Amino acid sequence: MSDSVVVAGAVCDAGRLLAARRSAPPELAGRWELPGGKREPGESGEQALVRELREELGVEAEPLERIPGEWPLKPGLVLRVWTVRLLSGEPSPLEDHDELRWLAPDEADDVDWLDQDRPAVAEAVRRLREA
Ligand code: CDP
Repeated sequence: MSDSVVVAGAVCDAGRLLAARRSAPPELAGRWELPGGKREPGESGEQALVRELREELGVEAEPLERIPGEWPLKPGLVLRVWTVRLLSGEPSPLEDHDELRWLAPDEADDVDWLDQDRPAVAEAVRRLREA
């Protein structure tokens, strides 16, 4: 059977990257992540990401490019990440998070990212610096 997929967005706006602090479960609470969640049956990765960002942040967003690679979360579950552009709405921590921060490239190391998000965060920041 193929791996299940967690999709996450490197949401970039005005030269900054959006970081979201998890409120649950207890072992992850307080760590920062790229917002997202599990892909559901019948969804593409992009569709799942649009849905997750709507549910978690209350925004309409457009996946732009997949960041190459995928990162194992646990056996049978992998993380895939896309760069994302906001279409409408101001992100707020509606679900799963208790704080959001917009990080300039030089601030990207200021938060305690989940280990598995770090390679995609580094690539997103590299692209922000180039833009
Ligand atoms: O809300 P849903 O069950 O769809 O997903 P979630 O609880 O947000 O994420 C599922 C799993 O993916 C959790 O174990 C998270 O730790 C992990 N995850 C991650 O490692 N990095 C992200 N950027 C998003 C989720």
